Amino acid sequence: MAANPAEKEVIPEDSDSKAQPKRSRDEFVFDKILGEGSYSTVVLATDKVTKKQYAMKILDKRHIIREKKVPYVSREKDVLTRLDHPFFVKLYFTFQDKDNLYFGLSLAKRGELLEYLKKVGAFDENAAQFYTAEIVLALEYLHSKGIIHRDLKPENILLDENMHIQITDFGTAKIIEGGNDRANSFVGTAEYVSPELLQNKVAFKSSDLWALGCILCQLLSGRPPFHAPNEYLCFQKITKLEYMIPEGFPDNARDLVSKLLLLDPAARLGCDQMGGYPPLKDHLFFEDIDWETIHEQTPPKLMPYLPSNTKGESALRSDILIGDGSSEEGSELSDWELFPSSTKSTNQTAAGSEGQEREEQLKQQAKDSPWNQFVNGELIVMTGLIDKRKGLFSKRRQFILTDKPRLYYVDPVNMDLKGEVPLSDSMTIEVKNWKIFFVHTPSRTYYLEDPTGQSQKWADTLNEWMAKRKARNTDKQS
Ligand code: ADE
Repeated sequence: MAANPAEKEVIPEDSDSKAQPKRSRDEFVFDKILGEGSYSTVVLATDKVTKKQYAMKILDKRHIIREKKVPYVSREKDVLTRLDHPFFVKLYFTFQDKDNLYFGLSLAKRGELLEYLKKVGAFDENAAQFYTAEIVLALEYLHSKGIIHRDLKPENILLDENMHIQITDFGTAKIIEGGNDRANSFVGTAEYVSPELLQNKVAFKSSDLWALGCILCQLLSGRPPFHAPNEYLCFQKITKLEYMIPEGFPDNARDLVSKLLLLDPAARLGCDQMGGYPPLKDHLFFEDIDWETIHEQTPPKLMPYLPSNTKGESALRSDILIGDGSSEEGSELSDWELFPSSTKSTNQTAAGSEGQEREEQLKQQAKDSPWNQFVNGELIVMTGLIDKRKGLFSKRRQFILTDKPRLYYVDPVNMDLKGEVPLSDSMTIEVKNWKIFFVHTPSRTYYLEDPTGQSQKWADTLNEWMAKRKARNTDKQS
């Protein structure tokens, strides 16, 4: 099959006669995968001569053609070529070979903003202000170029090595020609999509301002405002403007969100009809922002932080600085069943985890405990209801610590295993007060509140079983 000549025609080559000489795949050393999408993979690539690092976006030509995505690829290249601003990834070069297209993009060393948000749960007001302001400046520039992003969301906001934003993913962007402010056809990601896109299949520049409102909500509360179990319900909430701003959300931010999340695109703060960007930048939420120098400032540190809650408790800040995203991931639990515990159990909740005694206890547990079904045959050493908080939201879960040790959490109403806190030696536990404790893992901080006020007991028991695990692993090595 002579597939290649056909592909050459469909995938556009540079028409620019001033273009640099074409690069080729063998000029680069390819390393780890940075990201994967439906139609592309982004790989860390180093120029063999200059040693400069790039985020190389690689697209499979056959797949792109088969799925009729050629216009999106052309669009992305076209838009990226027009952009020259510090808050956007830069396209340095493109080339292709028999199978693939290659986009040489600037490397955003710190990865996705979303990962940081997941790690800390929610940003404090200062950090939310800073990052929202950077997104505002980026949108001001983008819209001045007549480009609508149409899929703005925390996954598409990357961070450079200094923690400033680098917006990416222009495959679904739209260039508005001749001052026409609208663009049609595409629908973005459910939770950030604007009502006009859902209802009339049109996007305006202010559809990006809608997404900005969603992102601001998410940064401060930990969750996008139109959050639902499925897309259909999410779309319903959007078209009815049904969102709830949780208590504890700062007043200025609440006011700004209410001026961005408006069904009428022409009424959103920042859009042309409302006087463009100056009134948006003058909003009280941005009072502390120096718009001229923000890109040179040192961004605020992203610290584990628990916003104040509905009960009027004040915000709690961690004393522990989290990793910056470049550190190693949490180690997996080791398979210690090969080396059963040699330590005598000491206390309270379940005595003795050795041999026969443990077997007896397991039998009893199987008879008595409703949580036995979730623990994979392990012995439960402590369990209780805990409010697991994320940003301004909270969910009540049954936490179950076993002697492996593993820490499971279950939805006690539906009796559904919801997840597990990954325990590892790089984990630390921070007791904030008699109810609240933080479990810092490499990927995320868990904010836990024991309504019965036993946070210290949870911390002590967790530390005790982690120490036992460590001792076992040391025995194993020696
Ligand atoms: N993932 C996707 N694009 C990226 C980029 N430009 N830098 C780092 N990671 C990425």
